[in-house]
Amino acid sequence: MTADPADLLVLAEKTAREAGDLVRDKREAVERMAVAGTKSTPTDVVTESDTAAEALIRSRLFATRPDDGFLGEEDGSVIGSSGVDWVVDPIDGTVNYLYGIPQYAVSIAAQIDGVVRAGVVHNPASGETWTAVAGGGAWLDGRQVRVSACASLSLALVGTGFGYDAVRRARQAAVLLEVVPAVRDIRRAGAAALDLCAVATGRLDAYYERGLNPWDLAAGGLIAAEAGAVVGGLRGAPAGNDLAMAATPGVAAELTALLERLGADRD
Ligand code: IPD
Repeated sequence: MTADPADLLVLAEKTAREAGDLVRDKREAVERMAVAGTKSTPTDVVTESDTAAEALIRSRLFATRPDDGFLGEEDGSVIGSSGVDWVVDPIDGTVNYLYGIPQYAVSIAAQIDGVVRAGVVHNPASGETWTAVAGGGAWLDGRQVRVSACASLSLALVGTGFGYDAVRRARQAAVLLEVVPAVRDIRRAGAAALDLCAVATGRLDAYYERGLNPWDLAAGGLIAAEAGAVVGGLRGAPAGNDLAMAATPGVAAELTALLERLGADRD
């Protein structure tokens, strides 16, 4: 049976809100959040909320759609048989969450036959929820959103982020040194999914980052594209781990050329 992306979005949004309530309530219950473990480096942390939220999301999605696949940040993957795969970050912006900075999100995307068709990014601290279905535009709390009209890289507010590995970060900082004088200013807000939604909403004119994982990118990438952003990688590649960029069309070519010249897709 063919899955309807609109139905998948309804399930994704309901689930993201429930998981968002869980992580926000857990954060508000303590003054200092504990680190439950680390992943790729000692600064790549996981809290008990990441694990609890992913478990909740899994159980809700599988209760309704038991044959789907699942790729989550915290607990590995499940291979499904329905053609639908969920790509989930239970808390994008975990370091912000740890420090009590209200810039983190639950991100849930639904892929059909490997292509992202529906996505939701929910910031439980602000209450904002971005949604998109492929071909249906991008929406923030029921209001359609569009990218900015910025037409020059020199006037663009550009978001970016850094990986957790020190060598990678040093290289990203070297690239940034060349980007800063070419743009209006830089923002490093700390949650890739929300950065992509910021481009969708005109709060940023562009965003780029090297090293994103599928769960950072899936839902926010669809939302940015549906809001009119150019979403891709460098040298003709799709957006992915090497480099992900989302930019309003007026600055996309200039930013792509700059990042290609700087080798922003290489360590
Ligand atoms: C991280 C955030 C951050 C980005 C990192 C991501 P996490 O995701 O999105 O903004 O710079 O590359 O790994 O670890 O908080 O889910």
